[in-house]
Amino acid sequence: MPKMNAFYAQSGGVTAVINASAAGVIETARKHKNRIANVYAGRNGIIGALTEDMIDTNKESAATIAALMHTPGGAFGSARYKLKGIEENRREYERLIEVFRAHNIGYFFYNGGNDSMDTAHKVSLISKKLGYPVTALGVPKTVDNDLPVTDNCPGFGSVAKYVAVSTKEAALDVLSMAKTSTKVFVLEVMGRHAGWIAAAGGLAGRKSADAPHIILFPEVPFNKKAFLARVKECVERYEYCVIVVSEGARYENGKFLAEAGTRDAFGHAQLGGVAPVVANMVREKLGYKYHYAVADYLQRSARHIASATDVKQAYAVGQAAVKMALAGETSVMPVIKRVSDSPYRWKIEKAPLSRIANKEKMLPPRYISSDGFGITEAARRYLQPLIHGEDYPPFIKGLPKYVELKAVAVKRKLNTEFVV
Ligand code: F6P
Repeated sequence: MPKMNAFYAQSGGVTAVINASAAGVIETARKHKNRIANVYAGRNGIIGALTEDMIDTNKESAATIAALMHTPGGAFGSARYKLKGIEENRREYERLIEVFRAHNIGYFFYNGGNDSMDTAHKVSLISKKLGYPVTALGVPKTVDNDLPVTDNCPGFGSVAKYVAVSTKEAALDVLSMAKTSTKVFVLEVMGRHAGWIAAAGGLAGRKSADAPHIILFPEVPFNKKAFLARVKECVERYEYCVIVVSEGARYENGKFLAEAGTRDAFGHAQLGGVAPVVANMVREKLGYKYHYAVADYLQRSARHIASATDVKQAYAVGQAAVKMALAGETSVMPVIKRVSDSPYRWKIEKAPLSRIANKEKMLPPRYISSDGFGITEAARRYLQPLIHGEDYPPFIKGLPKYVELKAVAVKRKLNTEFVV
């Protein structure tokens, strides 16, 4: 087997643990120096490959790569950049292959969500067509937890933990104020079209008196009348009401409660701002004092309260991707297979990218309570192990000590500019 280089890129929205997957890829590749000479990381994701702007990871010390394990964000820069179909933009694929060929890159590891798995799949197919076959593997990542086949997605467990913890803590605050002041608290969480993150908020409480009292899922059409009636009932019964709302909550006709009006490169509506919409409904109709929070990037960057399980799994999928590539697999993605709920046991298997690309896994109806406002025991059994364990980063002077890369650029070999 000839010795080649690998290309690794981060794609889409980042997570608190995506860098742990990068560490898994790089450390495993380093253990196979006889097969993989170097891992070049795309600066700003796939754009780094197209513009021949790559980071030489061999220039980073072992300690720096190990510290990626506890550093949030995307250390190499991520991008939402959609490669079109080969018929529409053949030049883009030719350019990728040109860059891969120039740098002796034979392995492509793409760390992302459903759209990115589509790109990895296309790269694998097209590289063969263009006469320079590249071993292309996906490395799963998404806080949305909406990739099919895999039991869960790295990145989700940590957001789930942040949301469950924050819901529990904020609930204590509201409860203490409720007698004379704030009665309603609304927490907006991410998840786009799938309610996995919102469901995780449900882990904060067990009994019906516990917060959150209401969860608004994208999977359950929003019914304003039923919602307001439930808020009123909660305040009258428990003195307060905590609501977790998914950014993807929508009306029966499919319209989002809050759509920012902009779309990303993949055509996804940019969401956000549903918490104030919901809170205003409460104030207008019921007159209760409220506070709301939009967790936004705080939830997906909160490495300080990451789930230890999530960190382990994020590393494991990066490691497995390299091992699979070296074993001759291509166009596959390592998936997490749950072996048992309690004790929680899991293993890594592989799945073809074609089964994963562009598909979204929604929260199944059996995870949503019959009134549509809460989670079931089955959902708890699924979610609970994913938030298990703490993996605190080191702290210095009261702040987490996160790593910074030298990010030395790989010397360019092509003289051509490529504008993206
Ligand atoms: O990657 C998923 C996600 O975190 C969604 O939950 C959220 O809607 C979206 O990304 C935000 O994307 P961006 O950071 O590109 O605005």
